[in-house]
Amino acid sequence: MIVNSATFRDFRNLRDETIGFSPSVNVLWGMNAQGKSNILEGIWYFARGRSFRGAHDRDMIRNGAPAAAVSVSVGREGNQYPVVLGAELYHTGKKRLTRSGAPLSSVSEMIGNLRAVLFCPAHLSVVSGGPAERRSFLDVAIAQLDPGYIADLSLYRAALAHRSALLKKHAAGGTVTTEEWEVWADRMSDAGARIAECRAKYVEKLSRFVSAFFEEMTEGRETPSVSYRSHLLPQDGEEFTVDRGRAALFEKLTTNVERESAAGATLWGVHKDDVRLTLDGNDARLFASQGQQRSFALAMKLSEGEISRELSGEYPVFLLDDVFSELDASRRRYIMDRLSGRQIIVTSCEPSVVPDGSGTARFIEIEGGRVKRQSSEK
Ligand SMILES: Nc1ncnc2c1ncn2[C@@H]1O[C@H](COP(=O)(O)OP(=O)(O)OP(=O)(O)O)[C@@H](O)[C@H]1O
Ligand SMILES: [Mg+2]
Repeated sequence: MIVNSATFRDFRNLRDETIGFSPSVNVLWGMNAQGKSNILEGIWYFARGRSFRGAHDRDMIRNGAPAAAVSVSVGREGNQYPVVLGAELYHTGKKRLTRSGAPLSSVSEMIGNLRAVLFCPAHLSVVSGGPAERRSFLDVAIAQLDPGYIADLSLYRAALAHRSALLKKHAAGGTVTTEEWEVWADRMSDAGARIAECRAKYVEKLSRFVSAFFEEMTEGRETPSVSYRSHLLPQDGEEFTVDRGRAALFEKLTTNVERESAAGATLWGVHKDDVRLTLDGNDARLFASQGQQRSFALAMKLSEGEISRELSGEYPVFLLDDVFSELDASRRRYIMDRLSGRQIIVTSCEPSVVPDGSGTARFIEIEGGRVKRQSSEK
């Protein structure tokens, strides 16, 4: 997939700007606080349906403006005409999403039309942070490839919320019938087992690619492993199946109600999943150096791109926010070589972060929310 261009109106500090991109390397460069990350945030909005900084839609409307509008023209292999995705954001929280002019009814309908892999310094937390960060990595990656996954996540979350309310009611002395417990346990187990299946399959692929990247990047000096941890996986060495996962969770949720009531939370399920990352056998979160953690996180992101291509036939767009400034020259070189042939949009304070010989790069200087100039040279 290629982002041909992006248009911004009253989006963050971008008043009215259209930026054309090259199908290979694009470097958005300029001083701090000029709007480089804002551009990536606008493009990413279509991949994820929300800001990568955790901002509300209304925060992205330019201060003092009534609404923001962003659109991207996306080219796909084998398609003669690009797809134009549009988003208008309003202060009320309302938004209008469109695909080639036709309204889209929901964010989940939009997701998948532009697949992108985003990497920014905060993503180091996929290695250094808690399980929630790794679940989120999986969810964002899988959702772009499988719309059914988003639907299952919503079903699961709704059932989990309902069950939490029942646990509270029970803890407060209210009556909850066996049938009620079973209905919600059943819904959680049903969606949960499908989620676990997607995650297990995804992690299997991830593990394969991460090993290969690490092997190359460290010339075989460091050996990573990536494995999926879930209450739904059989403990007895049996192979995971959706039916087994569903039965395992249903059993947990129907036999531990007293304990869960006392804890005030559902203690079993895919909302507790984790991905265990190790380096040479040690937990990467606790033992790996800063540089090793960064390499691990990058290997996971590069792998995400490979899996996306394996499953969809096309590479996603790589959005790299301030990533190169933290890497030494040999790792920059490695990343650029590894990403050759894909579209990359990278931000940096200096155009020189991109190593020489990185194909036909386009350098786009950003100043005060505007494109100051574009050139094919640094
Ligand atoms: N809703 C908004 N309205 C107007 N300006 C905004 C809004 N939100 C953010 N900004 C401004 O956008 C500017 C640029 O932000 P951005 O994060 O894109 O900078 P950057 O070029 O990536 O800088 P750095 O190199 O420091 O990462 C900031 O000065 C910020 O105050
Ligand atoms: Mg920035």
